[in-house]
Amino acid sequence: MIFDILTIFPEYFESPLRVGLLGKALERGLLKVRVHNLRDFATDKHRTVDDKPFGGGEGMLFKPEPLYRALEALRAEPPSPWVIYLSPQGRRFNHRLARELSRKERLVLLCGRYEGIDERIRAHFVDEELSIGDYVLFGGEVAALVVLEAVARWVPGVVGCEDSVKRDSFAEGLLKHPQYTRPREFLGYRVPEVLLSGDHARVERWRRERSLEITFERRPDLLREARLSPEDRAFLRE
Ligand code: ADE
Repeated sequence: MIFDILTIFPEYFESPLRVGLLGKALERGLLKVRVHNLRDFATDKHRTVDDKPFGGGEGMLFKPEPLYRALEALRAEPPSPWVIYLSPQGRRFNHRLARELSRKERLVLLCGRYEGIDERIRAHFVDEELSIGDYVLFGGEVAALVVLEAVARWVPGVVGCEDSVKRDSFAEGLLKHPQYTRPREFLGYRVPEVLLSGDHARVERWRRERSLEITFERRPDLLREARLSPEDRAFLRE
């Protein structure tokens, strides 16, 4: 899968693309990430990419011409990309969208800055506008990294154990259960006995119930959409 990131701060992406599973996936060629500097598509000697909004108001906007040139240059190369603009006005990004986007061959992630971008670019040259949450960041770079990581995890081979991707929080519409590792006792706090029992069915049931419990406490909104068995429903009624 190919990602093209369009930003005025290419340096933002240097370390995140080198480390951990993302770094490995890039080394192994499972993913390709290219970072493009929007200023390279400006035509004046100051490499200007922003201007004042018509009608007045605070701040600056990305002007249309450099964005247009950049997006056209990216679109000219195959495979044809799906263009995403990161902004607080976008549709809220989530687990389901991450999985859907991982089926695309190529994404362009356009990182906004300042007060946003000229509406004509958003309306006519962007396929989808996404927000990573109800807060305002300085720009779309962090949001682009969030989308990149969440999507990359679904690309086959990126996470060694595909089962673990499917078992992560949200995979079945629930938050993940708590986990423990050695030692069995730490500062007097013990690992729940059931996890040491070796009884696989009991362990699975315990995990499912803890998932249901924390989802009910922290994110009851998720339960409406989750796939629940009759036992799950009985547990939640208790
Ligand atoms: N740019 C600034 N804030 C953002 C947000 N919450 N999501 C996506 N892009 C952004």
